[in-house]
Amino acid sequence: MDFQLNSKTQAQCSIHFFSKKGNKFHFCSCASPMAKSDIQKAKAKTDDKVSFGEVFFYRLPSGDSHQLLVGTGEGGNLSAEQLRQLTGFIYKRLQAEKVTSASLSLAAVPMKDKAHAVQALTEGFEMSAYRFETFKAKPMDYDLKLNFNTNATNAKLKKSMEEGKIVAEGVNLTRWLGDCPGNFMTPTQLAEEAKKSAKGTKMKVTVWDKARIAKEKMDSLIGVSNGSAEEPRFIIMEYKGAAASKKPICFVGKGLTFDCGGISIKPSAGMEEMKFDMCGGGAVIGAMATIARLKLKVNAIAFVPASENMPGPAANKPGDIRKARNGKSIEINNTDAEGRLILADALCYASEKKPAWIVDAATLTGAMVIALGNTHTGFYTRDNKMRDTMNKAADDCGEWVWQMPLTDYHTKDMVGFYADLTNLAPNRQAGSATAAAFLESFVEKGIPWVHCDVAGTAWHAGNRLEYAPKKGASGAMVRTFVQLAKNHK
Ligand code: BES
Ligand code: MN
Ligand code: ZN
Repeated sequence: MDFQLNSKTQAQCSIHFFSKKGNKFHFCSCASPMAKSDIQKAKAKTDDKVSFGEVFFYRLPSGDSHQLLVGTGEGGNLSAEQLRQLTGFIYKRLQAEKVTSASLSLAAVPMKDKAHAVQALTEGFEMSAYRFETFKAKPMDYDLKLNFNTNATNAKLKKSMEEGKIVAEGVNLTRWLGDCPGNFMTPTQLAEEAKKSAKGTKMKVTVWDKARIAKEKMDSLIGVSNGSAEEPRFIIMEYKGAAASKKPICFVGKGLTFDCGGISIKPSAGMEEMKFDMCGGGAVIGAMATIARLKLKVNAIAFVPASENMPGPAANKPGDIRKARNGKSIEINNTDAEGRLILADALCYASEKKPAWIVDAATLTGAMVIALGNTHTGFYTRDNKMRDTMNKAADDCGEWVWQMPLTDYHTKDMVGFYADLTNLAPNRQAGSATAAAFLESFVEKGIPWVHCDVAGTAWHAGNRLEYAPKKGASGAMVRTFVQLAKNHK
């Protein structure tokens, strides 16, 4: 999409917000027959019946711009996230009506902070415009230009608009990485894409191959990758936006490009969704690219262990024992609990960098999906300051997160019989918490750490998020991670 800030622009359609109590719309008598049913519907509604996201479209004869009305519900001021949601409703209708240019009066946007409003609207529209068509012979021929009508065209508004676009492009990159099929988005390809995402920025990307990973004593990651014809990769992204003396913030993401379960193979129904098992790593790559493009004044590093989980002849077998980088041994009692295995080595390595904190994202457990569905990303931490930092970042950017409990009881469940640790808890209770407890044993004590289980939120979130695709990767946590970097002092 293309965005502009201008006092006057000729657009095919102008967009208006209307609410229960607010600006009563005067229906045009000149609307074409095409929109008649909509007009009838709208007229039948009294002002107090209009609901949030309800859209009316009036197609006017040539020369006049068409009118799109979107309901804001109760009226009054909206939150930035409500604006983002509204863009989803608006975009879909404009696309259906084949409108390619639209304008929106900034003064009439029901939000006081106009810079914030511009950012939220730009973000929302750009996210709504995402389509995954890489593998289609004929991509849809549709693009929308949007003008924010304002007399107060100033640097601050322009900066907000640009920032909104960059953040949304980060989200869309993460979605694209997730939507790509497993046969294309292999660990090698994921590493290539991480490199590409750094082009034109100050970010440095280093990629380790299987030999280097083995040399670095990441035997837990090696074990998972052994079942596959595809080599693993360890992706390192480094961005320096602050003084060298400042401790870096650190992201870690699960980059499991296809998870069939390995020898503990998954049932076939729905297995195709396991191409999304790299969405945590994808979110980390999208967030790092965004942090670098926004030139945030922070030092940030990221690690994405990338692997397939397949049942090839050299695959991990139930009962196998592997040793992670920090020397802890792990008995593998279920090869399908592989995310924690590849993250273990990455968390060890991240700890060695002595970061200010570590935040990881992983599509780690089915139990998370059962616990929170696709509304909230569940997060785990024992550090109350980090809990507040996470909650604030998510709140600031409009994403939903929910803290989950992590206690010594969960830790106890992950003590091994033949080795230091087991990758499988003795029962299915609190499966997402025991997974978090397992990860915790690879984070050096004293480093504030948060684990985000995005299993429920990383894809198919469109039933709640109007600006996300109904089917496909959502880009969950990219905005929160960027916000964490923005808020970091
Ligand atoms: N990638 C899956 C988790 C997952 C499942 C995410 C369904 C989204 C939807 C992970 O590697 C896995 O298989 N976890 C197992 C762990 C179990 C064997 C302890 C699970 O959750 O069933
Ligand atoms: Mn698995
Ligand atoms: Zn997995």
